[in-house]
Amino acid sequence: MRKRILFVLTMVLGWMNTIAAEQPPIRISTNETDLILSVAPNGRLYQGYLGKRLSNESDVANFSYYAPAGLGGSNTSRGWETYPGSGAEDYFEPAFAITHNDGNMTTVLTYVSSEIEKIDNNVTQTIIYLKDKVYPIDVTLHYISYGKENVIKSWSEIKHSGKKPVTIWRYASNMLYFENARYFLTEFSGDWAKEVNMSSQELQFGKKIIDTKLGARAAMHTYPFFELGLDGIPRENEGEVLLGTLGWTGNFQFTFEVDNAGNLRVISGINPYASMYELKPNEIFKTPEFIFTLSSCGTGKASRDIHDWARQYQLKDGKGDRLTLLNNWEATYFNFDEKKLEGLMKEAESLGVDMFLLDDGWFANKYPRENDRAGLGDWEVNRSKLPNGIPHLVKSAAEAGVKFGIWIEPEMVNPKSELLEKHPEWAIRLPNRETYYFRNQLVLDLSNPVVQDYVFGVVDKIMIENPNIAYFKWDCNSPITNVYSPYLKDKQNQLYIDHVRGVYNVFERVKEKYPNVPMMLCSGGGARCDYEALKYFTEFWCSDNTDPIERLYIQWGYSHFFPVKSMAAHVTSWNKDTSIKFRTDVAMMCKLGFDINLKEMDEKELSYCQNAVANYNRMKPVILDGDFYRLVSPYEANHTAVMHVSKTKEKAVLYAYDIHPRYGEKLLPVKLQGLEPSKNYKVEEINLMPGTTSRLGENDKIYSGDYLMKVGLKAFTNGQINSRIIEITQQ
Ligand code: GLA
Repeated sequence: MRKRILFVLTMVLGWMNTIAAEQPPIRISTNETDLILSVAPNGRLYQGYLGKRLSNESDVANFSYYAPAGLGGSNTSRGWETYPGSGAEDYFEPAFAITHNDGNMTTVLTYVSSEIEKIDNNVTQTIIYLKDKVYPIDVTLHYISYGKENVIKSWSEIKHSGKKPVTIWRYASNMLYFENARYFLTEFSGDWAKEVNMSSQELQFGKKIIDTKLGARAAMHTYPFFELGLDGIPRENEGEVLLGTLGWTGNFQFTFEVDNAGNLRVISGINPYASMYELKPNEIFKTPEFIFTLSSCGTGKASRDIHDWARQYQLKDGKGDRLTLLNNWEATYFNFDEKKLEGLMKEAESLGVDMFLLDDGWFANKYPRENDRAGLGDWEVNRSKLPNGIPHLVKSAAEAGVKFGIWIEPEMVNPKSELLEKHPEWAIRLPNRETYYFRNQLVLDLSNPVVQDYVFGVVDKIMIENPNIAYFKWDCNSPITNVYSPYLKDKQNQLYIDHVRGVYNVFERVKEKYPNVPMMLCSGGGARCDYEALKYFTEFWCSDNTDPIERLYIQWGYSHFFPVKSMAAHVTSWNKDTSIKFRTDVAMMCKLGFDINLKEMDEKELSYCQNAVANYNRMKPVILDGDFYRLVSPYEANHTAVMHVSKTKEKAVLYAYDIHPRYGEKLLPVKLQGLEPSKNYKVEEINLMPGTTSRLGENDKIYSGDYLMKVGLKAFTNGQINSRIIEITQQ
């Protein structure tokens, strides 16, 4: 049972400066990090420190007020204000801005009180109440710290008690300050089929903004996460680095601003673009959660901390198992019937996977879903393809010995659909301009509660008719185009935010009614991958690009923020120049699935795949719940290697891939990580093609963890597009 001890640090004593000055600094800590906030003599709240956890409690008092060099001067109010409003003496980007009813655009927030709530031995919530002395505005800052995982999550809540609505036009989730010699940003950018490309740059004076205006399919070009290297480019095993991510499935924005004193400010939150939000009296505007971890030994550790935190606290069924599957998308596209699907179900069983997943194309009758130009929105089974309906398919799957999952895209509509004929006002589109269609479809207006009911109803109807459905793949293929909500009428400025809130309302209802159904988040590949959506989804589809070489980079990128159990990876026919072994060995490092016509394979290949599935099932606890180490980066070598190590350090799996080694290239051994130095481990190559034997020099031998980590294994070869999976077992 959750033990809650609530104690009030300071009671509501207003914003009198004398009292504020007595308020001791507020310490928000994990086992390794301290964020110290302090109330200055002017009654306002400032960031005193963000860095490695201080060893002595008595040192915290030193941060009663901290003015960084170059800003303070004689006027102490120019400091690192925790949640600065617009229009005061700080001349950089504010975290918060509001236009009051009299037209005044300034806000100055002063400290009122704070509370510390110990949720359990590991998790603590700090709540800080702020208010404006002149206008009835209340802002509450929330920080939840996860001790062991070294993660802090923060958001703010904005409220006013005026008589008339006010307009808020900046509403950051969080703002952080850094005082270092140099700052380096690693960002992730991409597009369809080329997700999460990593690039680093030094931040100089002025602003660098990473944001999206896509509304839905919001992370198509950039992702809601970043890495910040303090004093050096983010590196895997050394250096101080902050990893930050925003839980928002819509327009997000990160602003990095180096100021006149060479300090860095990082503002994270919803992108305020076209979103001046009208806040009614006493309505609470809750910002999304900003989640961060600070590591003093590189990104590898920071990622492992976020993985642990996600599995423990955020990801849907984070501690649970994951289903292996066979998907029919690439094997059939829209061209299938009952018989074909039943054949695939049997193939799924023979492969040894847990489930058959039916993709796009199973629905709509008046405008049958034969391609992506029609039928979206009409979620009745297509009677000519599937005359006996979904219940029959669920039954056939059970008879074949596998579970049954299904694809939906319920937030979208094709213009050629009965749904849009019946409810033309449900789509987001402009009444007075030519309509632009992205993938021949429109986004339904989820700001409208009636549309939310409809979308929930799509899932509910399928589940009521087929209670044994074991899985949903939930797609979202279009950004918001033709930005106009017929429902919001003269409040168009709320569309981007209310739409996303509507989406969450549906996710919440689905989770509440069907808490145990695993779900894959998909968005034309990987354009939805944030930690708010992942409260409702067990995994996400990383990319439609399943070329294994591309996937090595894509999976490397996502692994910085997401545990592999949330990263769906399928073996397909993309890049047939690579062997089935290479394709499978690449998918095996994440949540394994297949999306391939097994008939394309010869006997040896099929038997290899069956063996690989069996190996995967055997090693799932290590792969899905172990610690993940990125050993050799594909960005820096012609090879790449990663490994999983079980929490007990008894078992590990090493994956070594040769991409395009140069002729006669010098091959360096792969140094392992995370093992017990004093224990011995047996090294054994697995996932071998039938009829081949391992050519790994160290195969079948025993080495100490110390040796494996200091000397390493000669796991790379000079072969082109070659892979090895090596099982490492403590003796
Ligand atoms: C998106 C998904 C694919 C597939 C198709 C179906 O592109 O990313 O995996 O489901 O839609 O139309």
